[in-house]
Amino acid sequence: MSAFSGKVVWITGASSGIGEAVALAMAQAGARLVLSARRDAELRRVATLTGLPSTAVLILPLDMTDRASFPEKADVVYQRFGQIDYLFLNAGITQRGPVAETDFSVYERLMDVNFFGVVALTKIVLPLMLARKSGHMVVTSSVAGKLGTKERSGYCASKHALHGFFDALRAETYASGVRVTLVCPGYIRTPISLHALNAHGESHGKMDENQEKGMLPETFAHKLLRAVSQNREEVYIGGLETYGIYLKRFFPGLLSRIVRNRRSE
Ligand SMILES: NC(=O)c1ccc[n+]([C@@H]2O[C@H](COP(=O)([O-])OP(=O)(O)OC[C@H]3O[C@@H](n4cnc5c(N)ncnc54)[C@H](OP(=O)(O)O)[C@@H]3O)[C@@H](O)[C@H]2O)c1
Repeated sequence: MSAFSGKVVWITGASSGIGEAVALAMAQAGARLVLSARRDAELRRVATLTGLPSTAVLILPLDMTDRASFPEKADVVYQRFGQIDYLFLNAGITQRGPVAETDFSVYERLMDVNFFGVVALTKIVLPLMLARKSGHMVVTSSVAGKLGTKERSGYCASKHALHGFFDALRAETYASGVRVTLVCPGYIRTPISLHALNAHGESHGKMDENQEKGMLPETFAHKLLRAVSQNREEVYIGGLETYGIYLKRFFPGLLSRIVRNRRSE
């Protein structure tokens, strides 16, 4: 029996890409699911793909920027399942554009979705986990959460912020049995670049080569579930690009030169 059998797993960003793949892998592992994102029809599509009976999957549309709605959403989950074992804080957006040209509103949007929404939802679910002395937050950061790259200033900042927040939370809640895993994906084959915000907040609308050639989301999800079942605190999953994290740690000058000289996509 898998570590996730019968567990209640709430996934944000479940309508696409990594979140969808995690939902399918969790369904296979016997979990009960709460699927959240803005697009109801896509969540329904994913729910059907899981093959789970309707009693084991709750479709819960949610916008990460609508923080006022979170208490009510968590209540719906509680009424339905009575517990939350895993919260996958995975919804996110990225950007394309140099600092000099990027509107301030783009930074606000990135922080709203990728950081403040995540903090707000964590604060709603945390008391429920603390009361049960059990629960696991799984946070999707990025390689860009460990180093800065061109044309991603706000994205990198929002992902770096997650590390500070969740490292602190992990230390605070360890004795209470609540666990935190931060995952830093490298390039994963998802449509994330299509929805990336350009310097003026419009859709980039292009599938970038790095994602096109990236790791399959199913492979990613399989590796992530293993890391979570092993209670890993921080994990890097992707191709060679994940080695950038080690270069930054051990040879920061070299990494800086590589990043500086790299063409941005
Ligand atoms: N793909 C990569 O190469 C890569 C690399 C590093 C990190 N990541 C991270 O992985 C996570 C998942 O991204 P992905 O690659 O799977 O991209 P994706 O396929 O575009 O999925 C993004 C998900 O986030 C949801 N989302 C976006 N804005 C939202 C909002 N305001 N409220 C609620 N949900 C929202 C989207 O659903 P709706 O549009 O239906 O709301 C979608 O389900 C992100 O945090 C991303 O930063 C991805």
